[in-house]
Amino acid sequence: MAPAGGNPYGAIENGAIAVAADRIRWVGDQSRLPSHIPAGVSVHSAGGRWVTPGLIDCHTHLVYGGDRAREFEQRLTGVSYEEIARQGGGIVSTVTATRAASEDQLVDSAGPRLAALVAEGVTTIEIKSGYGLDGDTELKMLRAARRLGEGGGVDVVTSFLGAHALPAEYAGRGDDYIDFVCAQVMPRVAELGLADAVDAFCEGIGFTIAQTERVFHKARALGLPVKLHAEQLSDLGGTALAARFGALSADHLEYVSEPSIEAMAESGTVAVVLPGAFYFLRETRKPPVDLFRRHDVPMAIATDSNPGSSPVSSLLLMLNMACTLFQMTPEEALTGVTRHAAAALGRADEVGTLEAGKQADFVLWDIDHPAELAYRIGFNPCHQVIKSGRRSNP
Ligand code: NIG
Ligand code: FE
Repeated sequence: MAPAGGNPYGAIENGAIAVAADRIRWVGDQSRLPSHIPAGVSVHSAGGRWVTPGLIDCHTHLVYGGDRAREFEQRLTGVSYEEIARQGGGIVSTVTATRAASEDQLVDSAGPRLAALVAEGVTTIEIKSGYGLDGDTELKMLRAARRLGEGGGVDVVTSFLGAHALPAEYAGRGDDYIDFVCAQVMPRVAELGLADAVDAFCEGIGFTIAQTERVFHKARALGLPVKLHAEQLSDLGGTALAARFGALSADHLEYVSEPSIEAMAESGTVAVVLPGAFYFLRETRKPPVDLFRRHDVPMAIATDSNPGSSPVSSLLLMLNMACTLFQMTPEEALTGVTRHAAAALGRADEVGTLEAGKQADFVLWDIDHPAELAYRIGFNPCHQVIKSGRRSNP
């Protein structure tokens, strides 16, 4: 699959890819390959398989302590996600478990979740902090996230999400907590190079527009791009604020308004839809996919992998859900975990399409047609992952 072409999926039939070191050097029709292959160049057959760019999961909370299975039971008896959060459960209960875990434990517990994603062809993943909500634990989470990328099998992009929830010790003092995040935590995170972007949760159970704006101003001062959990449960106007700050992405967006979508189009902000959270919270209000299309706002899809609202470790399942629940097309879904997901991470020059000059991240699939990637449920047709020019699975 190549960048935008007139043909569906940008597909090249009987294509070939030339790789040198970790880069794609050439992509095109096999018939245009030189007939004489120079010495030292090895040729691999993909066996006629479909090849796509490495998949990108552009929104996860993969690193955390504990789980929330009992909260799931509670929700099934009719208690809402918001009620649980207001009673001090929800995100705050994961904070307690994450503070108690060592950095090694966080790496170890996230490992199998990451392995499941990688086995499905994920070569770039974003991981957020946000279950520490104190300086040391936020840094611990970000270090754990960076360590998960050290093996070279997957690129990890990190986001600082200190403004995710109000920790118990700041109850009733949201502004003081934001002061603390901006004055004490973000400068340390930036100085240590632990975050590639800054995120926040702008919501009734998260932070107000004014508080989010202060976080964004600080991010700008520190030279970090922003993104936002916006309009998931209500329309506070977070998306328009994010667009004003040139946000890489606005994520969730079930309640986003058309004027905010126009602002996203203007600022080039990617709409990240998260069907796992929509499904798991049994939401009924869908993100306005038609309006994103009409205004040419690029749509990305991610797992939102987290213990409370989306305990998901399959990006392929999200392709299926984006199609069945949000009426996206399988082609839009695939673009949403490749090209547009790369843009949501500010990495569009490096990954997300098969183009000369980009990182050689691609996946060989045992499928007859690319729509199969969105069609099957609970089945992994990944044959082989090439990460930075190297085979990363047997
Ligand atoms: O993206 N919306 C806020 N954050 C997460 C939920 C995290 C949790 O419940 O632990 C989300 O859905
Ligand atoms: Fe999230």
